[in-house]
Amino acid sequence: MTTINARTAIVTGSASGIGAATVLELARQGYRTAGIDLTLDGAQATAREAAQQYGERHIAIQADVTDEPRLIAAFDEALQFLGRLDVLVTSAGVGETTPFMDLTVATFRAVNEVNVIGTFVCIREAAKRMQRGGRICTVASVAGIRGGGLSGTGAYAASKGAVLALTKNAARALAPMGISVNTVAPGATLTPMIAEHWKNDAHRQRVEGMSVLNRTAEAREIAVSIAFLVSPEASAITGSTLVADNGLVMY
Ligand SMILES: NC(=O)c1ccc[n+]([C@@H]2O[C@H](COP(=O)([O-])OP(=O)(O)OC[C@H]3O[C@@H](n4cnc5c(N)ncnc54)[C@H](O)[C@@H]3O)[C@@H](O)[C@H]2O)c1
Repeated sequence: MTTINARTAIVTGSASGIGAATVLELARQGYRTAGIDLTLDGAQATAREAAQQYGERHIAIQADVTDEPRLIAAFDEALQFLGRLDVLVTSAGVGETTPFMDLTVATFRAVNEVNVIGTFVCIREAAKRMQRGGRICTVASVAGIRGGGLSGTGAYAASKGAVLALTKNAARALAPMGISVNTVAPGATLTPMIAEHWKNDAHRQRVEGMSVLNRTAEAREIAVSIAFLVSPEASAITGSTLVADNGLVMY
């Protein structure tokens, strides 16, 4: 695929975990990408790795998804580099493990600012820039379906339940613009978000034992699910949740 014809994608959360794996998978498939993350160093490392492996067609942009003006500027910067926008993947997110009775309103708000409002603004800004239609994939979690119960708790589960509903609402709203919106709901996936918890063998075994495949996913396994949902081959799919959880919720 030549650079001029390559599909283009913005991926948030590209510095780490599922977002980084998604940049690499899309790059492997011939996309040009713009990664957006709070952490510039990490996003640059991902873009560099993609460039080294698949060619110089990737950039990294620093932005906090909760800072609306900065995020809009980052989307402008990304569009300038990409030329046009085909795909958005919203993987920027934060985990939260405070026990329910200790959970403060400030923490609840902070988690939802990133996971829900940050996702919303990214979808809106991407849709404004998708001149020829497009495909969007958000990242929810089995926590949004089950109401938590793995590592994340109340604020996290509520935020991911909101991402599931937001995705379906966006699928309805953006269909007339030729834009499909789906979500992937990972189960336990070995990234920096859960690495610390996974050092506790008993906890890891308890969570893995809840899934029929009795294992933890790798970030790349979630990335290939995302890459399918944003591919032209997924043309009949919108408003869907692809549960990639080793058979944990059997949704
Ligand atoms: N790892 C899991 O087990 C798991 C399971 C289900 C869902 N998820 C979801 O997958 C998504 C990716 O998580 P991950 O496991 O790759 O975690 P991660 O911590 O490895 O990556 C998250 C990335 O988001 C970025 N980020 C956080 N807040 C941001 C902000 N305000 N603005 C911009 N970037 C920000 C971080 O810098 C980081 O690079 C998250 O939405 C997470 O909730 C993860």
